[in-house]
Amino acid sequence: MTTATLQIDGQRIELPLMKGSLGPDVIDTRTLGSQGHFTYDPGFLSTASCSSSITYIDGDQGLLYYRGYPIEQLAEGSDFLEAAYLLWHGELPDAEEKTTFDTLVSKHSMLHDQMLSLYKGFRRDAHPMAVMVSIIGAMAAFYPESSDVADPRQREISMFRLLAKVPTVAAWSYKYNKGEPFIYPRNDLGYAANFLHMLHATPCESHEPSPVLAKALDRIFLLHADHEQNASTSTVRMAGSSYANPFACIAAGTACLWGPLHGGANEAVLTMLAEIGDVSRIGDFVNRAKDKTSGFRLMGFGHRVYKNMDPRAAIMRQACYEVLDELGLHDDPVFKMALKLEQIALEDEYFIKKKLYPNVDFYSGIVLRALGIPTSMFTAIFALARTAGWIAQWNEMVASPGHKIARPRQLYTGLQRREFVPLSER
Ligand code: CMC
Repeated sequence: MTTATLQIDGQRIELPLMKGSLGPDVIDTRTLGSQGHFTYDPGFLSTASCSSSITYIDGDQGLLYYRGYPIEQLAEGSDFLEAAYLLWHGELPDAEEKTTFDTLVSKHSMLHDQMLSLYKGFRRDAHPMAVMVSIIGAMAAFYPESSDVADPRQREISMFRLLAKVPTVAAWSYKYNKGEPFIYPRNDLGYAANFLHMLHATPCESHEPSPVLAKALDRIFLLHADHEQNASTSTVRMAGSSYANPFACIAAGTACLWGPLHGGANEAVLTMLAEIGDVSRIGDFVNRAKDKTSGFRLMGFGHRVYKNMDPRAAIMRQACYEVLDELGLHDDPVFKMALKLEQIALEDEYFIKKKLYPNVDFYSGIVLRALGIPTSMFTAIFALARTAGWIAQWNEMVASPGHKIARPRQLYTGLQRREFVPLSER
């Protein structure tokens, strides 16, 4: 067995090296705690928090595989529901399996009718992510049997319910904002086309989404479906490690995704582009991003793992051209400004040195905007898509033998023991 040796105050500790099927070896530090030592890695810069066979990323080479399949091949030849099947089962479905899977997902797309009352409790201007966190969490109350996470059948039913209902949850959070009636799902439409229908149709007017635009949205879903142990997925795993209800775990992941450093970045990109306002002001914003004291970052740039072009960003960049072509928006000023910003940042010494490339959210916001989706819904769409990966990762963890509740330790920097002083003496 290959080991790593750790020397602490003359004490020699041998730690086994674990080998994955791809990627760097991992030092197994599990026995260190019982020997009186902890490792320190806030932000998990060098820590593998679990083992997983679902998704692989090589950040230096810019590679992303779902179950071994390169994301480029899946984006070209597959669709979101097929990718979800792959993430869950480990293999691509055959034609019959795919039909059964797609049908089951479409058959579970309605929400419990009582949920309408929940929506009506929100302010009309509630952020869709605030609504999504609540409604997804509330599903635990509608399906109490889902708390039996030891039962694989119950887990499977919850996975279908989540994947099927989350587009309805998201679309209705938007309809509620708009003050329009909720539009029920249509089982004859594909997953993305149905979502566009629920967003854009009204009881007075149907909405038949163009196949090109539905395909573009489906590709956004597919590209966001999973991304190994990112902050929200780790949150889902952390919550699920106590065997909490799956709907509660996915609500926790949705809450984490909301932040502007994670899934909120696509919304933040559009807000930033609106703030820049004109190509002539790009230089100022780039300079602000380079100035540490400004607290400003270029949204849609940089990634914890990718120190090369994010492969999803390259596909999404291409999708921008296709969608803007289809809609006759080649001269879209926001897209033009985004391309100029991309060019200036890519040629800038600061961004080159720090390996800060545009990430997927830089382009996905532009495509979503062109699809007529309001900025406030961008992160909700990311959550909808990532649900496929979250539940695959949650199921993998719950089903794994030797499972342990997640319980990190800390480096305590507070006061040492002191004696309590009664209020009258302070
Ligand atoms: N603009 C300007 N400087 C940046 C940026 C940026 N967007 N991102 C990182 N830096 C600098 C940062 O100041 C730091 O400089 P120094 O080494 O001198 O202190 C260095 O680059 C490393 O940054 P970090 O914050 O230590 O890196 P991280 O791996 O902890 O953070 C990140 C990754 C994505 C949070 C960060 O790059 C960022 O805030 N980007 C903007 C938000 C964004 O686009 N997020 C979407 C990520 S992709 C979607 C997803 O997976 O959720």
